[in-house]
Formats: sequence, structure tokens, C-alpha cells
Amino acid sequence: MATMIEVQVHRFGSPDVLRVVEVPLPEPGPGQVRIRQTSIGLNHADLMARAGEYRLYSGEPPFVPGLEGGGYIDAVGPGVVSRRIGERVILSPSAPRHGKQPKTPTPGGTYRSHYIAAENDVYVAPDALPDDQLGAVWLAYLTAWGCLVWKQDLQPGQIVVLPAASSSVALAAAQIVRERGAVPIGLTTSPEKVEILKAMPSCAYEDILVTRRGASTEHEWVNALRRKTRGRGVDVFFDPVAAGEFLQNEIRCLAQRGTIWVYGLLGKPGHLDVTPLIRKWASIRGWVLGELTSADPALVDRACRDLLGGFARGAYRQHIGGTFALDEVRRAHEEMELGRHIGKLVLVPS
Ligand SMILES: NC(=O)c1ccc[n+]([C@@H]2O[C@H](COP(=O)([O-])OP(=O)(O)OC[C@H]3O[C@@H](n4cnc5c(N)ncnc54)[C@H](OP(=O)(O)O)[C@@H]3O)[C@@H](O)[C@H]2O)c1
Repeated sequence: MATMIEVQVHRFGSPDVLRVVEVPLPEPGPGQVRIRQTSIGLNHADLMARAGEYRLYSGEPPFVPGLEGGGYIDAVGPGVVSRRIGERVILSPSAPRHGKQPKTPTPGGTYRSHYIAAENDVYVAPDALPDDQLGAVWLAYLTAWGCLVWKQDLQPGQIVVLPAASSSVALAAAQIVRERGAVPIGLTTSPEKVEILKAMPSCAYEDILVTRRGASTEHEWVNALRRKTRGRGVDVFFDPVAAGEFLQNEIRCLAQRGTIWVYGLLGKPGHLDVTPLIRKWASIRGWVLGELTSADPALVDRACRDLLGGFARGAYRQHIGGTFALDEVRRAHEEMELGRHIGKLVLVPS
């Protein structure tokens, strides 16, 4: 019997709970294709799901993690007309089904060597995307596109500050900000990453400033941002740290009518004085990719095609911070938890 490999979680916990299991290789049904995956992007959400901190995603164990994937079609089911064996494809952002969502066609996530999808649930990949990046596009780029292009309607010349500058989302966001004619400035907690980031061909930051995790006084970066904006302030923060003194400093740096978008909670919560928001007519808003993926499918399709077009013409380029075989998944999660990487970590099944 033909088999494939998948990663299962039978109880919440540390990376040790990730089990690599051999299971029967599924055949695609009517209207479905089977993809031999060459790339599965790792995401912070996968770590949270494994640890039991993201039940909306994981549901109750057992489950297979993974939010994105891509590779080569290696089998097509009866009646498939739009796709053929050998095509390089990216799973659409809505293909992986998690939690309480309908468990078809493949239940659970993408941490598998092979994945069954509906024939219209894939995008043909541009040649510019190498095999190991096919499953590593959507989470970073759509999270940034949905917020900055769709919700914020970013304008040329606006100053956009991106904390966690070395993260896959911020690196993607910087490229999208540039593409819109706005100015991306990165903030990183890792001084040792600054020169590496600046030397990367794909780095789109105008500048990168260093912050410190959990420090409690006003920092150099606050003054540096005031100088860089000639006192006008920052138009947009796109922030996954978003807590305590760090958030307070962002409020201090905001321009009149500025916006802080909160899309993660990496920081340590603390008290906040929101009074300056009144004087500045400014706002703090939340953002989650689900708002885009549950929106009009035509909008999601426009976002995906816009991004793939950007890759095809070289405007967008991923930085891969590390690749791991599927049976190295525990090490991949450990590496991601350490936070020493830059850019996207990817599981490469074949
Ligand atoms: N809302 C959504 O829809 C959505 C979608 C995707 C991701 N996210 C969120 O986006 C964030 C980044 O995700 P990712 O997958 O791109 O992760 P990633 O590539 O692993 O990025 C992690 C980076 O965040 C920074 N960081 C980690 N802990 C921090 C802390 N305590 N304080 C300040 N900075 C910290 C570090 O960057 P530096 O070393 O450069 O400081 C670290 O390298 C996560 O919080 C994730 O949950 C949200």
C-alpha cells in the first residue's frame, strides 16, 4: 500500500508532542487534485495551536497543524478539467480546514507530504517562486496586504513602522509598503540582526531601529522616529508586539490621525494611557487575516493575484530563514520558538 507522511498532535504541549506518522496515501476524489508538497510555511500560529493557545485553529487534539502549502500536482481525480499532473501550485488560503470548519476535502492542516485539494482551490505558481517557497507566501503577504492595502488604503509618502522587523510578516509588509510608494521603517529587538537585514537583497526597509524587550523607559527609537518624521510622527504602526510601555511609546510617536494596527500579542501587557489618541484623532485597531479570508471570495482572489503578480515581476521576494525536512518538525518548532531566525522557516517534505 502506498503511504505518505503527516505530522499529528495528540495532546497539547512542547515540540515533543509533534508526531511524524506514516499513513495511507489518499487518492483524489471527483474534482480534486493531490499535491506532492515541496514547501509548508511555518507560522507563529502553529506554535500556539500545538501549545493549546489557539483552539479556534486547532480544535481539540488530535489534529494536523499547518496553514499553508504548495508543490506539484501528482494525481487528479475524475472530472478534473482545469489542472493537470506536473503543475506547480500553491494551495489557496482557504484550502486548509481547521477547528470547527467543514472538514473537506482534507481534514486539518498542511503538515503532510501530500495534500488533497479541490481543483479550484489552488493557484498556479509563478516561475519566480522556487519550489521551497510555494507554501510560504500567503500568511506573511496576505496578512500585510489585507491590513495595509485593503483596510488602511496606504497612501504614497506615508511613514509605516514595522516592529518585529525580522519576522516573515514584517519583511513582507515592508515590500508591500514600498510597492505602494510609502516608507517602511523596521523596529527590531535583536541588534545582531540589523546589519544582516540591511544586507539582504530582499530587504525593503528605509531604516531599522533597535528596541528592547520589556524595557520601561522612553527609548532612543522614539526620538529617532520623531527626527525621521521631522516631528510629524508616524502615520501607521503595523504591530505584532503591541503591549505595555512599547505600545505607549507608539502612541507617543503617532502622527495626527495616525493608526496603530495590532495583529499579534508578542509583548507583555501593561497599563496604557490612551489620552493622546483623543488629541491626535488617532486610533488603535485590531487586525486578523481571517477578516480577509472570510470576506468576499473575489476580494481574496484579487489579493492573491496581486501578490503573485508582484512575485512574477520581482517586486516581492521572500527571505527563507531555514528549511527542515518533515521529520525534523520538532527542531523546526524549537528554532522558531528561539526567535533567532530571520524571515520564513519552511518544512520541505521532498
Ligand atoms: N493577525 C494575523 O492575522 C496574523 C497573521 C500572521 C502572523 N501574525 C502574528 O505575527 C507575528 C509574527 O509572526 P511570524 O509568523 O512572522 O513570526 P516569526 O517570523 O517567527 O517572527 C518572530 C519575531 O518576532 C519578534 N519577537 C518575538 N518575540 C518578541 C517579543 N516578546 N517582543 C518583541 N518582539 C518579539 C522577533 O523579531 P525581532 O528579532 O526582529 O525583534 C522574532 O524574530 C506573530 O505574533 C504572529 O502571531 C498575525
